[in-house]
Amino acid sequence: MTSNTPKPVTFKPSGSLSGKISVPGDKSISHRALILSALAVGKSRITGLLEGEDVLATAAALRAMGARIEKKDDVWTVHGVGVGGLMQPGNALDMGNSGTSTRLLMGLVASHGISATFIGDASLTKRPMGRVIDPLSQMGADIRARETSDHKSCLPLTVRGLCPAIPIEYRLPVASAQVKSAILLAGLNTPGITRIIEPVLTRDHSETMLKGFGADIRVETDAEGCRIISLTGEAELKPQKIKVPGDPSSAAFLVVAGLIVPGSDIIIENVGINPTRAGLFEVLQNMGGNISFKKERIVGGEPVADIYVSHSPLTGIEVPADIAPSMIDEFPILFIAAAMASGETTTSGLHELRVKESDRLSQMAKGLEALGVKLAEKDDGLVIEGSGGKLLAGGRPKPVIETALDHRIAMSFAVAGLVTKSGLAIDDIAPVQTSFPGFQDLVTGLAS
Ligand code: S3P
Repeated sequence: MTSNTPKPVTFKPSGSLSGKISVPGDKSISHRALILSALAVGKSRITGLLEGEDVLATAAALRAMGARIEKKDDVWTVHGVGVGGLMQPGNALDMGNSGTSTRLLMGLVASHGISATFIGDASLTKRPMGRVIDPLSQMGADIRARETSDHKSCLPLTVRGLCPAIPIEYRLPVASAQVKSAILLAGLNTPGITRIIEPVLTRDHSETMLKGFGADIRVETDAEGCRIISLTGEAELKPQKIKVPGDPSSAAFLVVAGLIVPGSDIIIENVGINPTRAGLFEVLQNMGGNISFKKERIVGGEPVADIYVSHSPLTGIEVPADIAPSMIDEFPILFIAAAMASGETTTSGLHELRVKESDRLSQMAKGLEALGVKLAEKDDGLVIEGSGGKLLAGGRPKPVIETALDHRIAMSFAVAGLVTKSGLAIDDIAPVQTSFPGFQDLVTGLAS
């Protein structure tokens, strides 16, 4: 887990970035690969798994519930216990910084006859869990959470599962793949049909991978355009060989770096470009970004490509609110691109950004203002006046950007540092380990 001692790091203008690189495995797919492998009967093999702290927290929790998980060379082997076969963990499950681990594993525990207590770091402990507690309680789980003075249900919390659980039909009140996945995972060990109505499409890795593992899952669209996902339990999952593609949410930082640092030319190989995740690339192309996809292919049911990016003058745009779910993790780095564009970039519909690893609207606004960027912070978005390609402030004393235990705030400002007059410091690089081990070396490598 991230150590408690903050590690400040300076990022300075570096000259052009060039080279052919790859980024670590997709975080969302890595969590799901471990979880479904742990529920299959027999031995699954995973390559390309993200070895970041968030995914390692999921692995540790699954081990604590009986799955054998080993790594040799580049291959992770998971000996699954079968749906319904999880054991009572001996200690509280430490989720570190990871909302995905917490919410998905709460779903898993909810329909097993076990109980588990979930704890996490200072960031995770502030995040709302009511959105998963509601449906999982309807399925029969007994969940006791810490209630905050502003009426949020937060960690630490304990889930006492019910087996057999009750199948539900649930209409998602927030566009959240974590909530959808928590219910699907609970549905695996629930007799009958668990049905989710999803008015706004979110990342669909759980549906794709569940099909791959042999679950009886159907996805339809109703007359109003809502997705209806029906899963029949109790499921029997067959072990798989999974290749995890590179994470588009990690590639995003290098794509924006390539666009805004003059003279840059970068190739990022083997990146997932699932349309439910690729909104940022479309927005950047609409801003004038020179981004192209080559060698498009399907790996394990997921679209993958090599991404080519080169320095481009960007123009501010109005980002349509309905593209937000397909780039929900990418707004911090989009705001950096917007700060370097000509004209105004307007974003809206981003309430969810306030309940991520940090309040990303307020953290980004604070950091950008420290770099002299003119912006307005609205309830649900930022409006940013771009510099038109001029270097951002920096200067003396060097701005120190507060990252608030948020990996994506840290990496966004690391990239911004490359286009400042004389550099900036981020107060702590450690959170980057949750999703992108090797980030700093990769950036340094591209600059040399
Ligand atoms: C994730 C879903 C998203 C995203 C998170 C990963 C997932 O969260 O922000 O980084 O793997 O399902 P929400 O479901 O809260 O939108």
